[in-house]
This record gives sequence, C-alpha cells and structure tokens, in this order.
Amino acid sequence: MNRQIVLNERPVGFPTADTWHLLEVPEKKLREGEVNVKNIYASIDPTMRGWVSERKSYLPPVEIGAVMRALTVGEVVSTKHPGFQVGDYVHGPGGIQDFSISNGEIWRKIESTSIPLEKYLSILGMTGLTAYFGLLDIGKPKEGETILVSGAGGAVGSIVGQIGKIMGCRMVGIAGGAEKCKRLISHYGYDAAIDYKSENVWSALKKTCPEGIDIYFDNVGGEVLDMALAKLKLKGRIVLCGAISQYNADKNQGPANYMSLVINRGRMEGFLVMDYAKEYRKAATEIAGWMREGKLISDEHIEIGIENFFPAFQKLFTGNKRGKLILQINPPTS
Ligand SMILES: NC(=O)c1ccc[n+]([C@@H]2O[C@H](COP(=O)([O-])OP(=O)(O)OC[C@H]3O[C@@H](n4cnc5c(N)ncnc54)[C@H](OP(=O)(O)O)[C@@H]3O)[C@@H](O)[C@H]2O)c1
Repeated sequence: MNRQIVLNERPVGFPTADTWHLLEVPEKKLREGEVNVKNIYASIDPTMRGWVSERKSYLPPVEIGAVMRALTVGEVVSTKHPGFQVGDYVHGPGGIQDFSISNGEIWRKIESTSIPLEKYLSILGMTGLTAYFGLLDIGKPKEGETILVSGAGGAVGSIVGQIGKIMGCRMVGIAGGAEKCKRLISHYGYDAAIDYKSENVWSALKKTCPEGIDIYFDNVGGEVLDMALAKLKLKGRIVLCGAISQYNADKNQGPANYMSLVINRGRMEGFLVMDYAKEYRKAATEIAGWMREGKLISDEHIEIGIENFFPAFQKLFTGNKRGKLILQINPPTS
C-alpha cells in the first residue's frame, strides 16, 4: 500500500486538521521506462500554504484530492528505467507519500553518500540555495555593510546570517524567543539579535542598527518590513524572500513606508530560487566548500511519521522548531 497525504479542501485562514487527510492506496505497477522511489524525508515549507490556496502564484495550486506537493529525498526501490538502479538516492518533488512512481524526470541523483540525506532538503537543497542567491544576487552585500534578517533562526535565515558573515558584513537577526535569539549569536554568527516576541522591535532596531540598514532580507513581511523601510540607508536594498506573517491572512498588509525607496534611492526586489536552476550546481559546490571549512552549519528539525504531516506543518507558524523542518516518511536504510 502507498500512504499519501491528500488535499481535502482549500483552507480559509489557518489550515486545520481537516485540510488534508491520510489515504492508503494500492501501489501502482511499474511500467517500462518508470522508476519507483521510496520517499524518506520530505521538506516542510511555508510555501505549502500558498500551494493549497487558489490565489495566483508561481505554481498551479495542488488540486483537491491530489497528493500534497513536497520536495523529498528517497531511494530507488524498483526500476524499469535505464538511468536508475535499485539503491540510488535521489531528490526531487516526490510529494508527501510513501512511494512515487514516475518517468524519472523529476529526480536528480545524489552522488555523495557521505553527507546525511536530510542536508539535501536543507543547506544543500532549496533552503541553502535560497539564502545564497537571495543574499548574494539580489542583496549584493559589500564588506562592512549592516544586514537585517527576519525569520533569522529559521531554515533560510540561519544560513543567510552565516553567508553574510563570510561576506564580512554586520548581521542583525530577528527571531521569536530568547533561546532562538541566543542561538543566532552562538551558532549562526549574528552580531546582534532581536526577539520580536518580547521586545519592542522598533526600539531594538534603533539600538542595534544606529546607522541604519544597508540590506534587509525579508522572510516575514508585515510590520517588520515597514520598520526596515524606515531604517533603510542610502542605496539600501530589500530582498523579498517571503512574507510568512501574511500567508494565512485574507488580505496582505502592504508596506506603508515605501517612499523610503525614493528618498534613499533604494531597491526592493523579489526573487524565486527556482529561477536560478542553471546555477544550482555551482552554488551548491561553494556552499559545500564553506561547510567543509567549518564556516557554514545547518540545523534540521525532523518530525517522524507521515501521519504527523499536519502537526509538523503547524510548527512553521508557531516557530516551535529549530532550523529546517523535515518530515521523515520512511526510515532511511542504514
Ligand atoms: N523566494 C524563494 O524562492 C523562497 C524559497 C524558500 C523559502 N522562501 C521563504 O523564506 C521564508 C523562510 O522560509 P523557511 O523555509 O526558512 O522557513 P522557516 O524560517 O524555517 O520557518 C518559518 C519561521 O517563520 C517564523 N514565523 C512564523 N510566523 C511568523 C510571523 N507571523 N511573524 C514572524 N515570524 C514568523 C517562525 O520563526 P520564529 O520562531 O522566529 O517566529 C518560523 O520558524 C518564508 O517566507 C518562505 O516562504 C522563499
């Protein structure tokens, strides 16, 4: 049998336990040219909220009754495809299900088995690449600049902090809770941290960024985006990576302080990591190099069991996790 997490209904506001359900369907028979992958880990991402909404987005919505879209890493368990062998490890959009049968086009092979598999959904996957391209290509940091990052203790934000330090910048991170803020400084190299859950963010910004902000890497949107606009320096840049504070809202809160871009001749630019597909390999090689040199680390928070998809998804919004959120669908073969 193939266990699948299937979309039940389009949520209004925050999804509920009824938004998805667990289905068991008989495994399909493999046809000529197909490969069957057992999914081991799935990436649980804030963008999943957008995928189940009808709003226009960068990908079509997941259909009602369809398997929930997700990036996974898995192992080939049977194959009638000349390009794959049983035991190959792969990553790609396998979905929240035990087994994904396809013509193989969705999968990229994992060449090295010495790196833990979950890292391919984290620092060596979309997360690391998002931090890399967002900061370096859109933010274009220069040595000595001050960079503010929201969602700084999360999957993307924790890596942005470290890459910013590699670039010689002063890093200020915003995260929820004292423990996360402590970790920003002790583990991810941030120079200062702001706890948005217990501090007045505007006062803390004045204290930690007295000269203003050269780059704001925005993962949350909403009020903090407005505050960052108000603190932007001349020729400042705002990297629009995401806006998690707005994902469950009926109506998005737009920035009121946008005139700051005019006054400061600033730039605010969104990006999607998938647009950089041709440069992934080069970037991943550089990221892996920084990891080997001990300059870059990543934390993965692994929840166990396909049946725990919804409780895991909720953690994206409560923040009750450390680093990259991953769901283990099946245990890895040792
Ligand atoms: N543009 C792209 O191509 C691209 C690719 C990947 C991800 N993204 C975006 O990047 C952002 C970060 O993604 P991620 O995968 O690294 O997720 P993540 O940061 O690991 O998880 C989400 C974090 O957001 C914080 N959060 C949740 N609700 C919040 C709220 N209302 N206000 C402030 N903070 C809130 C929580 O941290 P606290 O405990 O600190 O509250 C939570 O841990 C998201 O906006 C995502 O959509 C964009």
